[in-house]
Amino acid sequence: MAIQSIAVVGAGQMGSGIAQVCAQAGYHVTLNDVEQRFVDRGMETIRKSLGKFVEKGKLSKADHDAIVGRLHPTARLEDCFKADLVIEAIIEKPETKKELFRKLDGHLPAHAIIATNTSSIPITELAAVTKRPEKLIGMHFMNPVPIMQLIEVIRGLETSDATTQAIFEVSRKIGKTPIEVKDFPGFLVNRLLVPYLNEAFNALMEGLAKPHDIDQSIKLGLNHPMGPFELADFVGLDTCLYVMDVLYDGFKDPKFRPSPMLRKYVQAGRLGRKVGRGVYDYPAK
Ligand code: CAA
Repeated sequence: MAIQSIAVVGAGQMGSGIAQVCAQAGYHVTLNDVEQRFVDRGMETIRKSLGKFVEKGKLSKADHDAIVGRLHPTARLEDCFKADLVIEAIIEKPETKKELFRKLDGHLPAHAIIATNTSSIPITELAAVTKRPEKLIGMHFMNPVPIMQLIEVIRGLETSDATTQAIFEVSRKIGKTPIEVKDFPGFLVNRLLVPYLNEAFNALMEGLAKPHDIDQSIKLGLNHPMGPFELADFVGLDTCLYVMDVLYDGFKDPKFRPSPMLRKYVQAGRLGRKVGRGVYDYPAK
């Protein structure tokens, strides 16, 4: 069955971006979070992002208004219960996600698909709490969602071919490129990215070079848009550490040892841009 209506649960940086790109592609999208102020903040993020496209002449004012008109912000989870596809982008805590999936599973129509934007929790484990494990799938978007092209589509042990195909179709319709990945710790992108970021913290710990010079070496030497510390601050140092812990626990391989230096930054509350300080300081504008 073709997907007509989408609900996004979680209106943070990722959820608001996901709702935005779905609405841009013509879908009616319900955007939900637990409190009205989070929903309002999500809508504000969307308006800002769309505003950038209008400023640059990439989007007309009329299209901007039509996109905003297709978004239905709500603090009531019940408003998501009629969707054909629910994309979850809430806090990265297994128990909180499982509780949500149990609720959704009990109320959604039988044909509905539940996709999770988790960056590291096993899809198979999340699917197991529902009675529709064949309809649960990972749909891992990259930050900033309106700009980044990739969606990692992660199949749990029980995810069906039909579900995977439906998610590939939605991904393409919203202008992204999906790739299929198996359900192993860190999936693909974070398995490659986060050990690299982690190693930058080990280099810093060893005094190999100053943070700015480590970033410059990657930007100028490898043509990456951001150096490892800029990117770690952007992603969130707590998220990086969480992914390293998942890799280390999942594979039991010392090559994934979380850097003590990364842990120290997290212990200090230097979590990155979102709190105004990480490896670098980001004074409020
Ligand atoms: N909405 C709309 N437009 C946006 C935007 C947003 N949210 N964010 C950036 N842009 C636009 C800017 O307006 C600008 O447009 P023009 O080129 O038309 O002027 C363009 O994107 C570039 O932005 P900036 O000039 O502000 O800054 P930049 O050139 O440094 O680009 C960036 C910013 C796109 C974030 C770039 O630095 C980049 O690609 N960085 C790497 C991001 C990355 O690796 N993301 C993946 C993180 S890992 C992840 O997400 C997975 C996980 O689970 C941890």
